[in-house]
Amino acid sequence: MTSTDLHDDPAGRAVFRPGAPWLDDRGKHLQVHGGGIIKLDDVYYWFGEDRSKDNDPGKRYVGCYSSKDLVHWTFRNQVLKLADPEDFGPGWVLERPKVFYNAKTGKYVMYMHVDGKAPGSTSPYSIASVGVAVCDTVDGDYTYVHKFRPFGCESRDIGQFIDDDGTAYLIFEDRPSLGFHIARLSDDYMTVEKDICLIEAPIEGGAVVHYEGLYYVVGSALTGWNPNPNKYATATSLEGPWSDFQDIAPPETNTYGSQSTMLLKVVGNQATTVIFMADIWKPDTQWDSRYLWMPLEIGRGKMWLPEPKEWTLDLKTGLAEVFTHDT
Ligand code: GAL
Repeated sequence: MTSTDLHDDPAGRAVFRPGAPWLDDRGKHLQVHGGGIIKLDDVYYWFGEDRSKDNDPGKRYVGCYSSKDLVHWTFRNQVLKLADPEDFGPGWVLERPKVFYNAKTGKYVMYMHVDGKAPGSTSPYSIASVGVAVCDTVDGDYTYVHKFRPFGCESRDIGQFIDDDGTAYLIFEDRPSLGFHIARLSDDYMTVEKDICLIEAPIEGGAVVHYEGLYYVVGSALTGWNPNPNKYATATSLEGPWSDFQDIAPPETNTYGSQSTMLLKVVGNQATTVIFMADIWKPDTQWDSRYLWMPLEIGRGKMWLPEPKEWTLDLKTGLAEVFTHDT
């Protein structure tokens, strides 16, 4: 089976199929778990955890794919094939990689959650740091640079936000503060420069979008691989104040079994669609973890994730059409 068989309808429209296997140009399921997307000219690049079954278990991998329509993805490279870079020890963690392009330096800068057992701890999530890797090309082999704790804070799940003015932000969850931060990156993106806001809510899988003059933040509760009701809040500026958090979907669906990773804004000549990008984790068969992408109902301070169904997006107009049948 190829991606065309699975992802085009009889009318030739590219179709998103939430929860279905999502195949690349080679017919392999996409390996971009906990991922993020950047757009360069008219090409989208999707980066995420590559958890292919045949990966070397001692290494951690980041996959990169490209697309012009967000449905058909071409495998580019395993851009990171990293052996334990810091002596984290067995079971070390590399999760939620995100790549930023820095126009000033011409470098591609990857952020990721790196983790392992801190001395004296039994938890493989006790080092709680961000790692940084760089590359001269978007899909080349990235070089690991270093790890750090942003502003000295613990950092687990990370998210990426690029505002309409091009400013780049890292979102990171900080357990001791019972919240998560939005941090502006430094000029060269190699570190964080300003702690814009600590949102005091226990949220991970954090993602932000700027839509019609309002910032929307979305994220999940802290239940590991198990899905929970994801929630959103709004503010007129990233500094806040932020509204209370509200459900994005009927709470009993646990976000239809998914967890947020990014909000992707597609601006067309008639409409702007914001895509909720989420992971449907399969902790015991991670290579088969699925993706749930749906266009959000968003505006005037409200955000709602409709029940997942097949849908299509016209990238020129920006209009999404959700089909009436179930997936
Ligand atoms: C989730 C987190 C994932 C992964 C998982 C491990 O809460 O969002 O990225 O860290 O926990 O249990």
